[in-house]
Amino acid sequence: MTSHLKKVELHCHLEGAAPPALTEAQAQKYNTDISAYLRDGTYVWHDFASFLECYDKVSEVYKTDEDYALLTETYLQELAGIGTIYSELIVSPDHGDRIGLGADAYIAGICEGIRQAKAKSGIEARLIVTGERHFGPERVIAAAKYAAKADNPLITGFNLAGEERMGRVADYAQAFDIARDAGLGLTIHAGEVCGAFSVSDALDVVRPSRIGHGVRAIEDADLVRRLADLGTVLEVCPGSNIALNVFPDFASHPLRKFKETGVRVTISSDDPPFFHTSLKREYELAADAFGFSDKEINELTRTGIEAAFVDEKTRMALL
Ligand code: ADE
Ligand code: ZN
Repeated sequence: MTSHLKKVELHCHLEGAAPPALTEAQAQKYNTDISAYLRDGTYVWHDFASFLECYDKVSEVYKTDEDYALLTETYLQELAGIGTIYSELIVSPDHGDRIGLGADAYIAGICEGIRQAKAKSGIEARLIVTGERHFGPERVIAAAKYAAKADNPLITGFNLAGEERMGRVADYAQAFDIARDAGLGLTIHAGEVCGAFSVSDALDVVRPSRIGHGVRAIEDADLVRRLADLGTVLEVCPGSNIALNVFPDFASHPLRKFKETGVRVTISSDDPPFFHTSLKREYELAADAFGFSDKEINELTRTGIEAAFVDEKTRMALL
């Protein structure tokens, strides 16, 4: 039972949190046939590449700033309802551009959703702008430039998501340089689909304070020590890792090993309905599948607050 515990989430892709029923309603509203990607209330994909394709197709039925405000408010209110006080949402201006909405209206709708949720429940949220590797380095640089110039206090971080097997981290170094120079917090998906080398590359090239997933670092003991020494925070998403077959089961998932080795870890849901999970379930898994005590789960939450891309006054209020 973890319902009494305070929660935070650092790693959730906004479109990846779209409830299937809402996506179904959006598809009907826009007269779009989405049956290849959403059937019987379940998103349809079978491996990482088809998951990314499904994600991109689902995103296409969110078309206006109002649609994005509704999606954002819906997810944040779900989080608030389970005791979540802080959420970072990974958002992709490219997805706004791809539907012809444009990045500004896309972000404006999302910010409106954040304001509505905060007014109703008090939940704090910030945005991490992401580039998508499978859209290519030029688009990732454009996303970084957008985030750097946005001058929006809710945009506090920059990320790289998408097809990890596409290119090497060095191909995206310029984007991270732009984001770093703008004072944004840096995190990067690494060590999820690709092995430990991807995490080493990320540390060498990006020098991020956090890594999205990072779990395959477990394949290299020296790298695990390096993560612990650096204090790099891993945004671990166990339910996602099992759904994507990164590990065959929770018994072989390294979350507990990382924590015991001194690596700073947090828990998140990544793309909850796509992976048949939720932040509520991830907290329950921490207790039931990983055997963490309430005290240990509170340490995961505290690490999340310490690593949040947020101003110090807000961080203190969250602690
Ligand atoms: N985009 C949405 N979910 C993702 C994941 N788990 N890995 C990489 N890119 C993503
Ligand atoms: Zn992710």
